[in-house]
Amino acid sequence: MSESHEQTPQELAAEAARVIAELSGIEKHDIALTLGSGWGKAATAIGEIVSEIPAEQVPGFHAAAVVGHGGKLTSIRMPDGRHALVIGARTHFYEGRGVRAVVHGVRTAAAAGATTMVLTNGAGGVNPNYSPGQPVLISDHINLTASSPIEGANFVDLTDLYSSKLRDLARTVDPTLDEGVYVQFTGPHYETPAEVRYAGIIGGDIVGMSTALEAIAARQAGMQVLGFSLITNAAAGISETPLSHAEVIEAGREAEPKLASLLSQIVPLLP
Ligand code: HPA
Repeated sequence: MSESHEQTPQELAAEAARVIAELSGIEKHDIALTLGSGWGKAATAIGEIVSEIPAEQVPGFHAAAVVGHGGKLTSIRMPDGRHALVIGARTHFYEGRGVRAVVHGVRTAAAAGATTMVLTNGAGGVNPNYSPGQPVLISDHINLTASSPIEGANFVDLTDLYSSKLRDLARTVDPTLDEGVYVQFTGPHYETPAEVRYAGIIGGDIVGMSTALEAIAARQAGMQVLGFSLITNAAAGISETPLSHAEVIEAGREAEPKLASLLSQIVPLLP
């Protein structure tokens, strides 16, 4: 490598994947999951924990920025012998580390061998049919971050980004699962009621601050994506109540056992 060579995001992800393989003793991970607010308990429900790696020991990762968001990478042996990698150290766009940092977990998962990426989050409900505590499948997204994780003239197709096959698989476990369009805002402030109305008018059902950029990077890396939002609250202006981070965390905590059970049944079915 010449001294002037700048490491690409993919090279950094490959380095991270090598460190994960070394520290976990697991050469290849088959499935990866990013578990957002409310989804954390699923890690222990999908199999046996082989190894928990503090995020800061892995190149390109940072300690968690938000209380209630984990800070480790967990390697899990599933009952069928495959391995899942749980990325418990999500970097959000609002942290200001740049979009490369936001999608580093997804790229690392791909470099670790994962071909299926499960992206989950806690989010606000725009669709009035949703209630707090309800998990919703993500059917598509609208990216309002004015950013992309893809650099250069690389025109990646995003048709069926949130795999309809994987959504069908999820509905074999719970046929009542609703689905909706996720709108990613940058945050960290919650949306104004006018922004929430706008999100609904342009076709959104869910508002949040993650996932869309990660899904794009997952597709670029050739992975299939399954996306889930836990509706932690009615989005601003949908209900009269002002939003609070504490409320979001509490709704997540209450829903955790249900979400863990749901994912523990769906993940084994994933390719
Ligand atoms: N908006 C954006 N992000 C969120 C929300 C919300 O209402 N709830 C949880 N994350």
